[in-house]
Amino acid sequence: MTQPSPEPFRRFRWRRCDEATRAQFRETTLRAEDFIWPVFLVDGCARSEPIAAMPGVARMSCDALIEALAQPVAHGLRAVLLFGVPDAKGVAQAYAGDGIVQRAIPAIKRVFPALELITDVCLCSYTHDGHCHIGDNDETCALLARMAVSHARAGADAVAPSDMMDGRVWYIRAALHAAQAAHTRIISYAAKFASAYYGPFRDAAQCAPRAGDRATYQLDPANGCEALDEIAADLDEGATAIIIKPALAYLDIIARARNRFTCPLIAYNVSAEYVMLQNAVRDGVAARTIIDETLLSIKRAGADRIISYFTPTLLARL
Ligand code: PBG
Ligand code: ZN
Repeated sequence: MTQPSPEPFRRFRWRRCDEATRAQFRETTLRAEDFIWPVFLVDGCARSEPIAAMPGVARMSCDALIEALAQPVAHGLRAVLLFGVPDAKGVAQAYAGDGIVQRAIPAIKRVFPALELITDVCLCSYTHDGHCHIGDNDETCALLARMAVSHARAGADAVAPSDMMDGRVWYIRAALHAAQAAHTRIISYAAKFASAYYGPFRDAAQCAPRAGDRATYQLDPANGCEALDEIAADLDEGATAIIIKPALAYLDIIARARNRFTCPLIAYNVSAEYVMLQNAVRDGVAARTIIDETLLSIKRAGADRIISYFTPTLLARL
């Protein structure tokens, strides 16, 4: 029989007494393989243009990106998310065999064959009005499917539709199957909220809507159950993994999704989340460990992987 404790309280501090002990009991860790680096691709050669709204982030031509990848890959980078930002608008570019993303994929693969290439599938960097659709939901899905197939043919490992049209995963799955590309994964932005946290990205990807907003297609920030419905629907339609976005104001959604679904869960630590922390560290408001602490919260909530602009700098010190 156990003796009653001689003390009326529990002792926890022995687990924290030094770094070696803390490391032994750490429940969550950041690993290089957890991170996906989002990058902005532009036409041409030797271009690396800093993005005013996102300190430390640049739009790069394919050759410049390949150079910029060497270090992070040496530090264990496993995956990138490619965004095409064409100089001239027009949706035909989105699915052209010689589009920015379609040409970059084999060029990157030649140098980094083991790097997972995930492509963003959305029209907003290509449409003149900056919206993610062309008016009709189902006609948009047909174009997105065409775009996804063109990425798959170029050698993308996974396509990531971020438009929030209804049924796009089903359209893309069917089109990939018909194109003998059924092995291409679909990582769907299943729960993407209509968020002000995308502000700096719209500058980076030149995709701000000319008029109106994205509230008629992206999720209402007030709705958690609807987000779970969206995830369930995308999994039914054939998504292999799902993205929740943004991450920080939606940690509850990540935790609820983790409890309910067994699929791989990815969280997108979006542009304004990045900029806010960068500025806080730059201005001396907080120590740099605020970045690791914040990224850790996303994993602790239940995300398997994190899409983050911090990826190259974080990997350099992991
Ligand atoms: C567009 C898209 C957006 C982001 C990724 N894809 C912006 C939007 O929907 O307006 C945001 C990413 C970020 O803020 O880092 N389909
Ligand atoms: Zn879009």
